[in-house]
Amino acid sequence: MSSDKDHIRIFDTTLRDGEQSPGASMNLEEKVAIAKLLEEMGVDIIEAGFPIASNGDFEAVQHIARTVKTSVVAGLARAAQRDIDRAAEALRDAERPRIHTFISTSPLHMKHKLQMEPTEVLDAITDSVSRARNYTDDVEWSPEDGSRTEPDFLCRAVELAIRAGATTINIPDTVGYATPEDYAGIFRMVRERVPGAEDVILSAHTHNDLGLAVANALAAVNAGVRQIECTINGIGERAGNASLEEVVMAVRTRPDAYPYMHKIQTELIMRASRLLASTIGFQVQPNKAIVGANAFAHEAGIHQDGMLKHAGTYEIMTPESVGLVRSTLVMGKHSGRNAFRSKLVELGFDDIGDNAFQDAFQRFKALADHKKDIFDEDIVALVDDQLATANERIKFVSLGVMAGSIGKQSAQIVLEIDGETKWSQTGGSGPVDAIFNAITELVPHQANLQLYQVHAVTGGTDAQAEVTVRLEEDGKSVNGLGADHDTLVASARAYIHALNKLMVKRQKSAPPEVDTQLTA
Ligand code: KIV
Ligand code: ZN
Repeated sequence: MSSDKDHIRIFDTTLRDGEQSPGASMNLEEKVAIAKLLEEMGVDIIEAGFPIASNGDFEAVQHIARTVKTSVVAGLARAAQRDIDRAAEALRDAERPRIHTFISTSPLHMKHKLQMEPTEVLDAITDSVSRARNYTDDVEWSPEDGSRTEPDFLCRAVELAIRAGATTINIPDTVGYATPEDYAGIFRMVRERVPGAEDVILSAHTHNDLGLAVANALAAVNAGVRQIECTINGIGERAGNASLEEVVMAVRTRPDAYPYMHKIQTELIMRASRLLASTIGFQVQPNKAIVGANAFAHEAGIHQDGMLKHAGTYEIMTPESVGLVRSTLVMGKHSGRNAFRSKLVELGFDDIGDNAFQDAFQRFKALADHKKDIFDEDIVALVDDQLATANERIKFVSLGVMAGSIGKQSAQIVLEIDGETKWSQTGGSGPVDAIFNAITELVPHQANLQLYQVHAVTGGTDAQAEVTVRLEEDGKSVNGLGADHDTLVASARAYIHALNKLMVKRQKSAPPEVDTQLTA
């Protein structure tokens, strides 16, 4: 029988620290969709954003606070009154609000980043935590760069935070410098030396600069930590954060090493991983633990032979336990609406509206005309693309391309812009360049292309292409996605998707209220 003291709380920060990955920005609808899935997965705490960072962050935290009912919703705030007030305002309608406030405590950060004396930092801890407690009795406090903080100072800071009312103490390894031994040692020290440490939840927040984020988090659990901060697919600043799927599957697969429980429904892991990857346009590497395309593939003949005799020979967890349904041949061109609807439900698209369903079905039929075997992955790519582009101002209509080694490459594109049909024909150095030039003629902009990436959804030369395009304007970047059996059409769709997102971003963007030291 497990008790509360064995419960590891999963604190997901995909929407906050994860979103700080370059190019991983998400819009409001995307963030809400991810938050809903995190809640369904059983995530205990969802860190929804950093409300003072921008109006977009504020709105996202506010919407998620209004939508999510069972998970705690957290908003991040520096140790400043207006940060905390803004976080509290964004969380006002949350069923279970948490304010997460932090300040740097390492000598390097205090001197160079904050330019504050240690005593000033200690005062700021008391003030910020007390202020946050006026709004909610669920307050988390973090000493940024905690793992490089001088031990006596760290203990003093934690003690003050607890005295001021913090209920969770998170000690981040902000720069991914600690080893598992170092990191576990910090928590043992805090538990031994800090009065009141036994009455709060200790939390691990680890970065992956040395590839140790998950190992550090798990070492911390064995040293008394009962909250792990992590992200889907391990996204996050620089090399990322501890990956949620790796943490929870380690605990599930190795109860002998980690005799604790978590509440994550691991069968939803693949869905969350795919949703995030298609939203931000970062495919996970094929050999990524748990969610990589090869994580459950057995290539060597000797392994395949062993697998046929007994799956346990080479498989320490089942693909089903992470929600990986073996790729199945789903349908062909004779499949009807009902079969398509059931397939969508099976793939997790249960609440797709009627119009979106009709459009997705038409696209499925068109795909079936070109591709004999349609797999689950094809349907997921197609519907993701359909949902992402449903309400956009610029819509793809048609594309004709001259490519190859004879003659100049050119593209003719037809778009519907705010309901009006427009076309353009242009050349370029290569077909993709020509397509992007033709689109730019119809939608002039100054954004820079930062990434163009093509990914084959399945095997075979008739595979659908999933294209990611990243555009950057005024320091803000957006990712566009497009899927089609024709790589060039997928490229056009991805570029148009990115431009649509850029237009939304322009409308919404307001200058950040405070620009310095925002990165946590
Ligand atoms: O890495 C870090 O120190 C953080 C804190 C704000 C928790 O993200
Ligand atoms: Zn962090």
